[in-house]
Amino acid sequence: MNFRSDNEAPVNTTIMQAIVAANSGFDESYGYDSYTNKLQQEMQKLFGCWCEVVPLTTGTAANSLAMALTTPAYGSLLCYESAHMMTDECGAPEFYSGGAKLIGIGGDEGKINTGSLDNYLAGVGVHGEHECLVSAISITQSTEAGTLYSLQELRQIKSIKEKYGLLLHMDGSRIANAIASLGCTVAEVTWKSGVDLLSFGATKNGAMMAEALIIFNPKIAKEIKRMRKRAGQLISKMRFVSAQLLAYLKDDLWLQLATHANQQAQLLLHALKSSHEFIYPVQANEVFLRLSPKAIRQLQKQGFEFHVWPGSHDIIRLVFSHATQSKHVVELIEALKKPL
Ligand SMILES: Cc1ncc(COP(=O)(O)O)c(C=O)c1O
Repeated sequence: MNFRSDNEAPVNTTIMQAIVAANSGFDESYGYDSYTNKLQQEMQKLFGCWCEVVPLTTGTAANSLAMALTTPAYGSLLCYESAHMMTDECGAPEFYSGGAKLIGIGGDEGKINTGSLDNYLAGVGVHGEHECLVSAISITQSTEAGTLYSLQELRQIKSIKEKYGLLLHMDGSRIANAIASLGCTVAEVTWKSGVDLLSFGATKNGAMMAEALIIFNPKIAKEIKRMRKRAGQLISKMRFVSAQLLAYLKDDLWLQLATHANQQAQLLLHALKSSHEFIYPVQANEVFLRLSPKAIRQLQKQGFEFHVWPGSHDIIRLVFSHATQSKHVVELIEALKKPL
């Protein structure tokens, strides 16, 4: 019973069928195919605005291209101190941007603290040309801690970005889980909240390998095509990535899959909230739970798979996906309720 990662979940059947259906005959290569054209239109409908849609194969590529588009080589981008970009992308964002700097800002529950962000920015500039030019902020929605930025928090970040004339990137590797949970539109959470570009993830929520960088700000969209090529992300048979994203959006499949994943997390929360320590509020599809090392070993012996959080011996991360079966969550709850 796998609660280790949504990356380990299978591909959703409808999306798999869409790949197979796209596999008939010839179509243009390098993004000039009918699927990618249609995707451009569908995303514009979804967001209700102009946007440039750039299909990609990994979230790391989306985040790294976002950094390259927003931050010059002599610049810096501010993100949460343990954001995925900071800790799990092997320096790719800095590499793509030609050496720009990532700067971590502290906070709680996986989110940048807006007071710390404002304080940091207020102190910028005293070293003149000796310091990197702060160019952008990146936030993750839903966060690496399974929490969410509320619309009010997003408004605060928007006003900070505007105060200092910065660009705003959102790592939406799990944006579907955020939208399904917040119950507002994806437009409200992104461009209406000042987001200039979004890494729109689908792989973790049912696609095989399909992400897209969605650029809302035409000023930064100009050079994306050459940058994508230089990043090795100009996919010749792009139709198979776009076909996944089209199936993902059709009839709100993306929200249905994310709702299912979120509901599994809520099932666990409601069954155990009075008996167990949840490290962060459970707002999307990831749960961090404190357990004794003995209880952790016991669960592992019973075949439950999850990560013991690096650097800790008593915190586990459970990830629920579109493919998580409720009966397995119930089994997990029962195992957790048993006295040791
Ligand atoms: C929040 C977040 N952003 C980005 C990524 C990167 O995605 P990929 O592994 O496809 O490069 C991940 C992957 O787990 C992630 O959790």
